Amino acid sequence: MIEVSRATVDALPGIAEIERASITPPWSQSALADEFLRSFIAVASDGGGVLGFCVLRRVSVDEAELFRIAVCPAARRRGVGDMLMQAALKFACKNALTTVYLEVRESNAAAISLYEKHGFAKTGLRKNYYDDPAEGAVIMTRRTFVTILAIETSCDETAVAVTKNGREVLAEEIFSQADKHALYGGVVPEIASRNHAAVIGRLTESALQKAGVAKNELDAVAVTYAPGLIGALLVGVNFAKGLALALGIPLVPVHHIRGHIAANYIADRDLEPPFLCLIASGGNTLIADVRGYTDISIIGKTRDDAAGECFDKAARVLGLGYPGGAALDKLAQSGDETLFNLPRPVIDGAPYDMSFSGLKTAVVNIVHNAEQRGGEFCKASLAASLTAAVSDILVPRVMAAAAEFCHDKIAIAGGVAANSRIRAEFVRAAEAEGKTLIIPPLELCGDNAAMIGAQGFYEYLAGTRAGMDLNAYATMDADLTYEAAAGNGRIV
Ligand code: KG4
Repeated sequence: MIEVSRATVDALPGIAEIERASITPPWSQSALADEFLRSFIAVASDGGGVLGFCVLRRVSVDEAELFRIAVCPAARRRGVGDMLMQAALKFACKNALTTVYLEVRESNAAAISLYEKHGFAKTGLRKNYYDDPAEGAVIMTRRTFVTILAIETSCDETAVAVTKNGREVLAEEIFSQADKHALYGGVVPEIASRNHAAVIGRLTESALQKAGVAKNELDAVAVTYAPGLIGALLVGVNFAKGLALALGIPLVPVHHIRGHIAANYIADRDLEPPFLCLIASGGNTLIADVRGYTDISIIGKTRDDAAGECFDKAARVLGLGYPGGAALDKLAQSGDETLFNLPRPVIDGAPYDMSFSGLKTAVVNIVHNAEQRGGEFCKASLAASLTAAVSDILVPRVMAAAAEFCHDKIAIAGGVAANSRIRAEFVRAAEAEGKTLIIPPLELCGDNAAMIGAQGFYEYLAGTRAGMDLNAYATMDADLTYEAAAGNGRIV
């Protein structure tokens, strides 16, 4: 039986022999050995030696060149070329290499038809490219376009986006319910669910229409399934299920925090893992080592409140309404941040963990004490001092984590990344330490569906799928893949 597997160096002599028999001029064995460092190399064998091999080299974030696909003369017409091609394309797909191209001799009709069968199309001609005999090279390209409808309903934003290949937003609709909750000083779960249910259908139709995409052109539906408010999540999850079922397309579950990280792939189209990412929002604050698109490790997190919760609570007692992060940011700009001495807690033995509840309480106490005494205090300076404290908790931890985990690239995400003081501090620190900093534009910092489409694309390529039993979860670790969560009983 013929099997295709990723090549090890043991296969080198066999690969070199096929190379010599089928390519002029051939690569030397040492050149082929070097190629192992750069490329995906697969070999076909039937137990008795190498029958064929392929070499796929990544040339940019989403492009690869198929340098070789060669079969030993004795093994031709046994489907070995097809098997090698399938292995190369599977690897490309898993690694988000959505464009694969190759060059082939003009006269090699058999190879050209094999490539056409696998979805390649002629996209160019290089005249007199080959010697011996002199001949042109046909350039053939295969592009994968994955159009995803993405849905986000984890809190009080109903958002629907249509995205292409994780990096391009064709259309997005967001309905913010913030004013409906402002009256209560926080999100009321049942009101959130009802509002999601009321608008999600209309937003979906509108997003599809704006994108110019028909329902039957969608490749998958991606939806936030955790963490968040259960009732709110369930609206999106069930709507996504219905759509996926009706259209007969995959349902891709997306973790909300992974979505926030992925907002950076839209903000910076060349960004690829590994990088370090701070996610600071109303419900979560954590530092993630993003090792791969779907391989994330949490290296620090808040032990209690999120940074955004701290801002929201402070804004509320300062009379700035809900959610007050942005208003507090504005007010802080005219304040003196040295006026109030606020805590910057450190957690013993956990250098990247954080705590914001003491800070939140300190601010609330200052306001209440002043109110009880009937005394005046400078609200702007309290806002500025709080912002400085949050910045002092976040920025040095992120920079230290980047140094320890050897990351040159740092991304920040989540609603708190919109804070002007914190953004400026990150810019300064990154410049001082020679790091590349990626901060998404404001509209990508808050909850949105484009980020779910971006992560959904990489989850889709990695084969993450949910069945019709997909549920919603209030809490879920961001480093758990959906499969692992299902395997260890977190998903039932
Ligand atoms: O990411 P996001 O929209 O929703 C969650 O997933 O939580 O984050 C919302 C949080 C809120 O706590 C909001 O007050 C905060 O982000 N926020 C800000 C700013 N803009 C939004 N916090 C500080 N400064 C801002 N400019």
